[in-house]
Amino acid sequence: MSGKTINLTLKVWRQQGQANPGRLEIYPAEQIPTDASFLEMLDIVNERLTLKGIEPIAFDHDCREGICGMCGSVVNGRPHGPEKETTLCQLHMRRFKDGDTVVIEPFRARAYPLIKDLVVDRSALDQIIMAGGFISVNTGQAPEANSLPVPKENADLAMDAAACIGCGACVAACPNGSAMLFTAAKISHLGLLPQGQPERNQRALRMVQRMEQLGFGSCSNHGECEAACPKGISIDFIARLNRDFLKAGLLEGAMPLMEV
Ligand code: SF4
Ligand code: FES
Repeated sequence: MSGKTINLTLKVWRQQGQANPGRLEIYPAEQIPTDASFLEMLDIVNERLTLKGIEPIAFDHDCREGICGMCGSVVNGRPHGPEKETTLCQLHMRRFKDGDTVVIEPFRARAYPLIKDLVVDRSALDQIIMAGGFISVNTGQAPEANSLPVPKENADLAMDAAACIGCGACVAACPNGSAMLFTAAKISHLGLLPQGQPERNQRALRMVQRMEQLGFGSCSNHGECEAACPKGISIDFIARLNRDFLKAGLLEGAMPLMEV
């Protein structure tokens, strides 16, 4: 523990719900330990607001270890804040300077209705998964480990794609509100493994179709998603998704829905 503290001014988005108007409210955040995480800073501010009889700021969180994908707000215009490849829960206050003004807003996208303050409904991402982000298996004895050899390159790529924690920052960062990076990561991590082959075509078609039905925009290669992703998911996976989708459309007789 460094024992160092900083004083900040927060401008926080407050909104009771989707149907209510929202506004930025200003709160002082004084004597904040630089060792605290961003979410711990919000905890401290909330304790003080509660003591003053002000409703605490609603924000999402769970593991606070960068693995569950629950946290996420836009900090000074950037989803998950200024630290590259870092979730909001892993962002530390030493990243800010004494006297800084910090603007905190919810993830904004057409497919993310606001619930309250900084909390938005990201269940549309779950619905994309439900459309095909799984493999169907018969339960029973686990297969012998070496019965399905996986090339090292594919195993590494599948692991890279599987690093996606489903936080949805890519959607909030995209000017089109596209979920292509998320969907590409989920399709790729299964499509690169032997177990994912039987449903590969249907998976690509169904997940992309569901994504479009849910109001996510299309990809026009801005690259903001990759820059905002706390897990470093590469937009190369979007190219892989486009190839899978085109091939699936040809093989399954469906018209491709997007350009490659
Ligand atoms: S691709 Fe990155 S930003 Fe998008 S949901 Fe996955 S981890 Fe979050
Ligand atoms: S709270 Fe789980 S990733 Fe941030």
